[in-house]
Amino acid sequence: MELFEAIKTRRSIRRFKDQDVEDEKILKIMEAVRNAPSWANLQCWHFVVVRDKQLREKISELTYVKSFFEPLGYKVNPAQKGIKEAPVVVVACADPAKSGNLWNQPYYMTDMGIASENLMLAAHALGLGTVFVGVFDEEELKKLLGIPENIRVVGLFPIGYPATEKKEGPPRKPVNEFVYSDKWGTPIK
Ligand SMILES: Cc1cc2nc3c(=O)[nH]c(=O)nc-3n(C[C@H](O)[C@H](O)[C@H](O)COP(=O)(O)O)c2cc1C
Repeated sequence: MELFEAIKTRRSIRRFKDQDVEDEKILKIMEAVRNAPSWANLQCWHFVVVRDKQLREKISELTYVKSFFEPLGYKVNPAQKGIKEAPVVVVACADPAKSGNLWNQPYYMTDMGIASENLMLAAHALGLGTVFVGVFDEEELKKLLGIPENIRVVGLFPIGYPATEKKEGPPRKPVNEFVYSDKWGTPIK
């Protein structure tokens, strides 16, 4: 798939077919992650590939964080069901000590954001679907998967064959609303 086409047509996929995902495809996705740029090339990332059904079910439950979702009127995390359905859930972790921290700006989140987009685009290019799941009970998740104290969990990615076809994504701002010419606030033509 051509790069701009992949960027444009990637969508958050939250429902999956009852169909396994080949190990080679997961490795190919991880190869795309491996090629991501990172602070001083320190590659602060670690990924746990979860296939175990019971673990996926527990992970799914941990994505409903009541204190976050209840005030919004949500009874579930919109991605919750998909985490149970998808044959694979990738847990993206970072070692903050292996990235930059410049003027109180922790760059491990930047590194992980870039790696995550590589992951999502690679999955899409392979005909798979995924979604960045950023809301979860980190402490419980770390206990469940034996993730060390000093490591942060940054996101979860259910990966599977999409059960839904999404042509249009949620609306995006037009470019001239957020890109300026020479000085802040002067819209680009
Ligand atoms: C950092 C981050 C956290 C997210 N967390 C969740 C989440 O917890 N649950 C969910 O269903 N979607 C989550 N999303 C997906 C966004 O809702 C989605 O990307 C956005 O609505 C745009 O839709 P699109 O990905 O189809 O273009 C998250 C996305 C990002 C980048």
